[in-house]
Amino acid sequence: MTIDDQLRAHRLFLTDHLRKQTDFSRTDQNRGVPPPPLQKPAPPDSLRVSLPDFRQWQQAIGQTSLVEAIGRRESRRRFAEDKLALAELSFLLWATQGVRRVLGHGHALRNVPSAGARHSFETYLFIRNVTELTPGLYRYLPLEHELVHVRDVPDMGTALIRAAYGQKFVGRSAVTFVWACIPGRMEWRYGLTAHRVILLDAGHVCQNLYLACEAVGAGTCAVAAYDQAELDQLLGVDGEEEFAVYVAPVGKKE
Ligand SMILES: Cc1cc2nc3c(=O)[nH]c(=O)nc-3n(C[C@H](O)[C@H](O)[C@H](O)COP(=O)(O)O)c2cc1C
Repeated sequence: MTIDDQLRAHRLFLTDHLRKQTDFSRTDQNRGVPPPPLQKPAPPDSLRVSLPDFRQWQQAIGQTSLVEAIGRRESRRRFAEDKLALAELSFLLWATQGVRRVLGHGHALRNVPSAGARHSFETYLFIRNVTELTPGLYRYLPLEHELVHVRDVPDMGTALIRAAYGQKFVGRSAVTFVWACIPGRMEWRYGLTAHRVILLDAGHVCQNLYLACEAVGAGTCAVAAYDQAELDQLLGVDGEEEFAVYVAPVGKKE
């Protein structure tokens, strides 16, 4: 395959051409297979942390208008060493993946849109500098609005920088968000047309993070360049049923 052929194939992926070729009567949804769970279950003996709820963080967070947040948004790669408050992290998680309403088994609406409301992401957090939390890798449980501790990560900053091909700001954040997708959640409904919309979904999530950061005196920068195998290994995911798709380090503004 020449590079031109490859470019053509990749351009085609960006289009919606597969929809006409897909027999939707054969998707798992239409064959009566139950939907995958809304969130990856947490191991029963794991450490869980409740996040401050809406009423608590609403008071702790400044009243930045949407116009201000959009007007100020930019990619920020320099972070202060200040801690992010747990209430602020709670707000960022609510803004990016918070659940509004469970519609039934396997279906929920969140604060971001998602094709077919399939919401195929899990949010992993490499926490370095957040009040009330010991550093380590955590995962967000949107249904309970809790964190589950995944494991300690020795020398986390260095490991993150290495996984991000040497981008130093990724390891100097207070917390680095990594969205991993579970493609099966989207494939259940959309079959071969699932993958394009998963990446479209990721954009909404990260944009909400950008805007929410502006409301708490923090900043972020979208990162799509990372070593896939190394980051997946750091997350402890298998790279097939679940893998990283997008990274966003967050820290207080300098
Ligand atoms: C999909 C995507 C991937 C990106 N990947 C990286 C990255 O790997 N490293 C980086 O420093 N910036 C990355 N950026 C940030 C862009 O460089 C930045 O958005 C662009 O320069 C425009 O600047 P602004 O966001 O301040 O408007 C990425 C942005 C997007 C939307």
